[in-house]
Amino acid sequence: MADAQRHVARFTNDSRIPGWDRAADLTKEPAVVPDAATTEVPAELRAAIEDAVRRFPVGDSAFIPALYAVQEQYGWCSPEGIEQAASVLGRTPAALTAVATFYDMFRMEPLGRKTVYVCTNISCSLCGADELLEALEAELGEAPDVHIRGFECLGACDIAPMASVNGIYVGPIGLDQVPELARQIVAGDDPLPAKQLIKRPCADPKVAEK
Ligand code: FES
Repeated sequence: MADAQRHVARFTNDSRIPGWDRAADLTKEPAVVPDAATTEVPAELRAAIEDAVRRFPVGDSAFIPALYAVQEQYGWCSPEGIEQAASVLGRTPAALTAVATFYDMFRMEPLGRKTVYVCTNISCSLCGADELLEALEAELGEAPDVHIRGFECLGACDIAPMASVNGIYVGPIGLDQVPELARQIVAGDDPLPAKQLIKRPCADPKVAEK
């Protein structure tokens, strides 16, 4: 048994779990809840978090909307924003950071506020997602304040190949529509309105056309 344990594969920082690239610093002082009386919180951020708290029976359930509010305020989950949210929620910044770093849609570094997630999972990939991502990256590569990346299944496989543009699901996206979509993203316009999932009476584009 001891031999078997010695041969367990290790990843970075001696972790046995892939993806955990930053080990906990066990020498640090225990985290404390930021003092609500002395932590300055922008009024709109405080209001958004307090509104989220009111919607749930347990305050911890508001972590995700609170983190979204931080991201909205600062463009990313900045340490300052997390500290502020923690003070409103009465929890440690570490508790919020643990949630933020688990989910892919929270940005832990400053990236563009305009997000373009191109699904490259199997259904979209079979319908040309890799070419779509490449074409969008080529069009948007230098655009300011835009963050484009490939993403695992976004749960809209029936409109493959698709992308989430600032949270709006758009698809199927043809390569010939990439220049128009890129222009709309940069300008902050509604992305391909006729291809938005939310505007369809049915996800099947053939049915929606009737
Ligand atoms: S595979 Fe692209 S949304 Fe599911």
